[in-house]
Amino acid sequence: MIYLDNSATTYPKPQSVQSAVTSAMRTSANPGRSGHRMSLAAAETIYSARRTAARFFGMENEEKVIFTPNCTTSLNMAVKGLLQSGDHVVVSSLEHNAVMRPLERMKNQGISYTKAEVFAGNDDKTVDSFRHAMNGLTKMIVCTHASNVWGIRLPIERLCALAHAYGLLFIVDAAQSAGVIPIDMHEGYDAVCIAGHKGLYGPMGTGIMLLSENMTMKTIIEGGTGSNSFSLEQPEDLPDRFESGTPNFPGIAGLKKGIEFVESRTPEKIAAHEFRLIRYLYRKLEKLPKIKLYTPMPDERYFVPVLSFNADGHDSEEIAAILNKNGIAVRAGLHCAPNAHEAMGTLEYGAVRISPSVFTSMNDMDRLAYILSRLS
Ligand code: ALA
Repeated sequence: MIYLDNSATTYPKPQSVQSAVTSAMRTSANPGRSGHRMSLAAAETIYSARRTAARFFGMENEEKVIFTPNCTTSLNMAVKGLLQSGDHVVVSSLEHNAVMRPLERMKNQGISYTKAEVFAGNDDKTVDSFRHAMNGLTKMIVCTHASNVWGIRLPIERLCALAHAYGLLFIVDAAQSAGVIPIDMHEGYDAVCIAGHKGLYGPMGTGIMLLSENMTMKTIIEGGTGSNSFSLEQPEDLPDRFESGTPNFPGIAGLKKGIEFVESRTPEKIAAHEFRLIRYLYRKLEKLPKIKLYTPMPDERYFVPVLSFNADGHDSEEIAAILNKNGIAVRAGLHCAPNAHEAMGTLEYGAVRISPSVFTSMNDMDRLAYILSRLS
């Protein structure tokens, strides 16, 4: 299979990730729960994974790295942990349901939101749009770093500065960007929510929430942490406060290796490789009369390397099925981001998304373009 669905999850995973998961399955006990050496060794691996993530994201304090089951859980924890009745939130027009569904549900708690339009290629207009979406009740901006559908990149450093200038919290959904765009917590983000299994090449079922130095919040899940067991109160200490229950130890062991894999290649070089592929594909697709592209030739400043399109006379799912029959894996439809499709006018029929990884080749792009050129 030519796998071009890396925005859903990267495949294949590096050998080092696979080995770490297998080894954890073979040797692990429950980390941080017991005093025997198997449990202690597992706890040491988790601590080491936390340190790796902290280093990668420019953090001095690894205790502010919270391991979660996925980016959606991280976003739910941040949004639900920080908002109260009466608060207003500004989001972008490109958000995934991982942001929109919690906010929609919280309307019944008196929380409201406004969508700010994103102008691909014009950061000044995008920042203005966020400014205009604020009101006197606004407590937080939560926005994606890059659209999972259109690859459009948001100027999060500037949006963070805007939020803080108005005394607001700034939360980032970095599901599609971590590992491809460098993220440095020194920028002052209050919380960054990350998928472990996409650009960080870890296993599915892994996510991270990075917190700024003074950030804490209400919990949405309480339970055993292996610490302060005499107390019925959830601990205040991080990361325990936000990591109740047995963690995904094999997943976290694999995620550590995934982050090391990306570190060794560097996000900049990985992005450069993927941009070469996407631009090459873009030049081929723009010559095919049946193919409709929605975004301009992707430029690193304003995009991540993801490209979505449609083909005249075909439903997006139909194109994905044709590609599947020809041994090419893509994702079509709405990509759990109806907002992003609404913003581009594709809500009715969705789009076909191409998302490469470090393992994708020019030959893969050639084969895809060839199959698309033969559509009737
Ligand atoms: N959010 C993931 C995607 O974009 C699953 O496909």
